[in-house]
Amino acid sequence: MKKPMALNFHQIVALALLLIINLTSFGICQNDDDISSGASFIFGDSLVDAGNNNYLPTLSRANIAPNGIDFKASGGNPTGRYTNGKTIGDIVGEELGQTHYASPFLAPNTTGRAILHGVNYASGGGGIMNATGRIFVNRLSMDIQIDYYNITRKQIDKLLGASKAKEFIQKKSIFSITIGSNDFLNNYLLPVLSIPARITETPDAFVDDLINHLRGQLTRLYKLDARKFIIGNVGPIGCIPYQKTINQLSENECVELPNKLAIQYNARLMDLVQELNKNLKGATFVHANVYDLVMELITNYKKYGFISSSKACCGNGGQFAGIIPCGPTSSMCSDRDKHVFWDPYHPSEAANIIIAKQLLDGGKKYISPMNLRQLRDL
Ligand SMILES: *[C@@H]1O[C@H](CO)[C@@H](O)[C@H](O)[C@H]1NC(C)=O
Ligand SMILES: *[C@@H]1O[C@H](CO)[C@@H](O)[C@H](O)[C@H]1NC(C)=O
Ligand SMILES: *[C@@H]1O[C@H](CO)[C@@H](O)[C@H](O)[C@H]1NC(C)=O
Repeated sequence: MKKPMALNFHQIVALALLLIINLTSFGICQNDDDISSGASFIFGDSLVDAGNNNYLPTLSRANIAPNGIDFKASGGNPTGRYTNGKTIGDIVGEELGQTHYASPFLAPNTTGRAILHGVNYASGGGGIMNATGRIFVNRLSMDIQIDYYNITRKQIDKLLGASKAKEFIQKKSIFSITIGSNDFLNNYLLPVLSIPARITETPDAFVDDLINHLRGQLTRLYKLDARKFIIGNVGPIGCIPYQKTINQLSENECVELPNKLAIQYNARLMDLVQELNKNLKGATFVHANVYDLVMELITNYKKYGFISSSKACCGNGGQFAGIIPCGPTSSMCSDRDKHVFWDPYHPSEAANIIIAKQLLDGGKKYISPMNLRQLRDL
């Protein structure tokens, strides 16, 4: 008969150690694992929507082929992103070492610990103003996006406890805001729907309204512990294939009024960013000069390896395939990485990569007072 097994002191110590190691790797320490790589909280419009509109009854949708054809994570299937591959938000998150793309707030599986990898609130057609994008019937405007972040904020408290949650949000989280284009394209400049606003509001007054709303919105995010911000200005919206097509411009021209309004808004935005950096203690607002960056790509496209910066790769109608949005019946170019524009409104992944690179590592001409790697490391 065998003697019943008795543990000596060393074996007991070894067992105890094993137990501790197991507890920490499956318990408490896991918390540190999935928050240590940081997170992006993404607000904005179709330039950064990663699928929220899939869950809305809306006319603005990108979950149809061939959108997403070059998006590796979905095997080339459409996800709701308004481009052929990654958005600027995806690329920036990846480059900053985040292990997952921020997932759409409205996706049913954006729950539990998944939110610690970041959440995306952006919505195609959305704007600073509530009325913007009404033509699409439904979209999440900035006020709603921040209401939703307020829900996420409370969930993070529950997951991590109040003090760890606050530290995670203030130190490890980047808040990116890409908004404003629709306030011009699908509000102020839109025939029919906006005529009452345009009659009563001068461009100055409208821009003033936008900046005042945005100030309130960014301040709300600050109150909910956001500290590291990146705010993009409005790009050269007079140069997108849609505008060039409907205004029957030639290859090297851009529509004046939309660009003029963008420049006017952008000047005020720069002041707002400086003001908030001064007034909101402990917060850093980084300004991304998307206008000049995209204009540089459009003007000097050949230098960056593109063959066209006027024609949409995927779209239909007119000289620049700029009238009907990208979908299964659109014509599609064969060299998707050689077009600045994927569709009548949105840059291709190839353009997004060049833009993101400047935001991550570029100098003050495009990203100030610091770039995104420096912002992350603050
Ligand atoms: C949610 O589901 C989608 C589609 O199945 C998947 O691609 C994504 O990775 C999931 N997200 C999370 C956070 O689990
Ligand atoms: C926009 O809508 C939200 C939610 O319905 C509301 O809380 C907010 O006050 C509205 N903003 C304006 C300026 O009307
Ligand atoms: C967040 O939501 C709570 C209600 O749950 C509300 O009292 C608070 O004002 C909201 N905060 C912001 C900044 O919107």
